[in-house]
This record gives sequence, C-alpha cells and structure tokens, in this order.
Amino acid sequence: MAVIAGNWKMHMGPAETQAFFEGLTVDDSMASHELLLFPPSVSLTTAAGCAERDPRVQLGAQNIHWEERGAYTGEISAAMARQAGATYALIGHSERRHVFGETDDQVALKVGAALRHGLVPVICVGETLDEREDGRVDEVILGQLDAALAVLHGADRYLIAYEPVWAIGTGRTATPADAAAAHASLRARLESTTGLAAATRTAILYGGSVKPANAQELFAASDVDGVLVGGASLDAESFASIVRAAG
Ligand code: PGA
Repeated sequence: MAVIAGNWKMHMGPAETQAFFEGLTVDDSMASHELLLFPPSVSLTTAAGCAERDPRVQLGAQNIHWEERGAYTGEISAAMARQAGATYALIGHSERRHVFGETDDQVALKVGAALRHGLVPVICVGETLDEREDGRVDEVILGQLDAALAVLHGADRYLIAYEPVWAIGTGRTATPADAAAAHASLRARLESTTGLAAATRTAILYGGSVKPANAQELFAASDVDGVLVGGASLDAESFASIVRAAG
C-alpha cells in the first residue's frame, strides 16, 4: 500500500474543489492505496462533503497554528481544521519554512497541536540546493526530523515527507537513487530514536516535481512509501494516474 498525497497549495477554491472531485475516478485497483488531499483551508468543508461520497480520500490542512485560539489573524487552529474535515496536517512544508520563516521550534509546537487534536502530522523535511552541494543533506534533514521527533515521541501515527527544496515546483526531480539515499537516512534515524517497529510502519513520502511520467520509478525506489504531489495533483486525471502508477 502506498500513500499518495496531493498538496494543492494556494490553488483550488471551493468551486474548483467540487469540480475536482466530480472528475476524480478512483477505480478498485486504487482502493488499496491511501489517498490524501490537502486543500486550502477555505475549501476543506467542500472537500469534506465530496469526500463523504468517496471515503477513499482523506483530507488534511496545509498548515495549522499551535495555539488553541486567539488573536492570530489569518491563522487556523488544529481544532478548526478538524472541525472542517481534516484528519491530517502538513507541518513544516518548505514553503512555510522558506517563504514564511517557519522554524524548527514552531514545527515542533505545531506537531504538538496536531497530536492534541487527533490530526496525523505529515512532517516535511528537505535541503536547499546550496546545502546539497555543500554535502549537508543528512545534517539538514536529520536536524529537521529530530526537532519534530522530540514531540512525536510515543505518537500513534505520523508521516514524514522528504521534499528537497530544489525539486519543488522546478520540474527537477530527485533521482530515485537520491530519494532512496535520503529516505534510508531518515529511516535509520527513526529506528535509532523510536525503535524498529515504529520506524518500519512510518511512511516516508517523496515530494518534488512528482508527475505521472516519473511516479512509477519513484515508487520503486527503496524506502519510498508514497509521494507528496504539488502541481500534478491539481488535475483529477493527473492525480489518478499517479495513483495508478503505484500499482
Ligand atoms: P511540486 O510540489 O510537486 O509542485 O513540486 C511538491 C510539494 O511542494 O509538496
């Protein structure tokens, strides 16, 4: 079973969300996979209404605040995301880290908020091109993982997404070997911190320019348990063909 997650970013209002679900045909062969969609928060309730008719799709928030409520203009809490139909939360996406300055400490706080409200955290880690060229991939991604693991300790379920920053939205994908190497480092750190059983059952997704044309080779890479797809998840047929590529 693979996890195929679509991160819609700042695309797809309620009307487009409705149209996406009307165009999504998930056949039986796909039913063995776990399908997740992360719409913008204003479209979560619409997506939840649609997903009720198609319970194979589960929903998540793209971002949550760590506080329960308060004077935080523009933010949504984990409880609100849950009320709107989310059961997952993306945390620490590279656009949050690099465009909005989110830190490892804030990622840890958000992980805590997700767990308090029964949202499964999907923690995103990834290095920039400079960091890769400096040979610092493991240092960066394991540092980001450690910050989240400090809070995740003992949590029932969470997912990790390896998303090299240089591959996001650039059309430049990590090779299956690059993905496998980073995933192996993440898995080893999960094992040394949480034990073999937890490390084995924690899905590690690859993200960064995943498309119908390259999905199959990425699914085949070792330690790749699924994909987190941005641009290619906005179209129902393209999302469905990535699901089909998972076999
Ligand atoms: P992309 O985005 O597939 O458009 O590169 C991936 C992501 O940011 O999750």
